[in-house]
Amino acid sequence: MFKEAFKYYKAKWPPPDLNGVIDFEEPSKTNHESTLVELQDNVPGLHLSFPPIGLQPPQSWRCYALKSHPGILVIRNPFTVHGQRYWIARSLRDYPRAPNRINLNENLFASDAIKDWWNALQQCDDKDEARRLKISMRWATLGYHHDWDTKVYSETMHTPFPQDLSNLCQYIATVLGFADFEAQAAIVNFYPIGTTLSGHTDHSEPNQTAPLFSFSFGQTAVFLIGGTTREERPSALYLRSGDVLIMSQQSRLCYHAVPRVMKTQEEPWNNLPADDADEKLMKPERKKLRRDFEDNSNVCDMSLYRLVRDDSFWLPYMHYLNDSRININVRQVLPSGVKQLPLPPS
Ligand code: OGA
Ligand code: MN
Repeated sequence: MFKEAFKYYKAKWPPPDLNGVIDFEEPSKTNHESTLVELQDNVPGLHLSFPPIGLQPPQSWRCYALKSHPGILVIRNPFTVHGQRYWIARSLRDYPRAPNRINLNENLFASDAIKDWWNALQQCDDKDEARRLKISMRWATLGYHHDWDTKVYSETMHTPFPQDLSNLCQYIATVLGFADFEAQAAIVNFYPIGTTLSGHTDHSEPNQTAPLFSFSFGQTAVFLIGGTTREERPSALYLRSGDVLIMSQQSRLCYHAVPRVMKTQEEPWNNLPADDADEKLMKPERKKLRRDFEDNSNVCDMSLYRLVRDDSFWLPYMHYLNDSRININVRQVLPSGVKQLPLPPS
C-alpha cells in the first residue's frame, strides 16, 4: 500500500491526480472535513506571548490534527517572512559547516572536506560545477549525528546543538503541550525538485515517546503519512514553506515519505510585507517587550536576522529556493532527565 502510493505520487508520467492531497492552506476547498480538524481551544499554550523572533504569536497560528492519523499535528506557517528567511539562511549558510556533518564529506579524507559549502557554491564560477555542487548537497546533521549505516546514535558522534533551533522547538513544543521536549538531534534535508525521500520510520532514537518536529521551507512537498506497517494506506498532504509538522504519540513511529517536491506559485519567503510584525519588535514601545526581545536575541544570530532583509544578501538564497525544498527534522534522543547515552557494549 505504502509503496504503491509512493510510486503514484512520484510518477512523472502520467502525473498524479493531486485532488486527494490534504491542503492546510485551503482546508475548506478540499473535501477533507472528515479527516482534518482545526484545533482551536485545545492547544494548551495558545495564550503564550513573546514568541522567539521570526514566529507569529500563537494566537494567530492555525493548528490542525488529522482524524485518520492521531498524533499528527500541523501548524500552517507560523513564521514571519523574515523568520522564514532566517531559518533558510541558517540551513544553507551555517548548518552545513563544522561541527555539523554533511553528506558531501562522508568517506573523504579530512583534508578533502568541504569546510564551507555555501561559500564554495557562491565562489564557483563554472556553471556546471556550481550546479553539481548545489544538487549534490542532500543533508547536514546537528547535535547527535545520525549514523546512516548503523542507525545508532553515540556520544562519540555528538556536537553542540544550535541554540537558536533548540529555542524555536522548545517554544513550539510548549505551546502544543510538550513542554519537556529537548531538541538534541536534527537532520537538515535538502531536496532539489525531482528528488524524493522513500518510506521509512524514525526509530533510532532511544526516546521514542518525545514528538518529532519537522519544518518545511521553499518549494512544496507532497508528504505521505501511513501507519506502523507498510501495508496500511497512507494519506497525502501538502507541506508548504513555513509549515511545521509534528509526529507525536501514535504517529511518532509511523511510516512516512516525500514522493514529490513541486514548484509552487506563491513564494512567501520573497514577499516582504509592508506592515512588518518583526519591525515592530525591533522598536519595542514597552519595557517588557524590550526585555523579552533581548532575551530572544540571545538565542538568535541578530546580525543574520538583520542581513536577511537586505535584497542583495537575500538574492543567492532566493536562487537556491527557486527549485529546492529544505526540511529541518528535529528529534529528542535521550529519555527525559537522562544526560547522556550509555556506552555501547564493547
Ligand atoms: C526525515 C524526514 C521528511 C520531510 O528527515 O526523517 O522524514 O518532510 N523528512 O522532508
Ligand atoms: Mn523521517
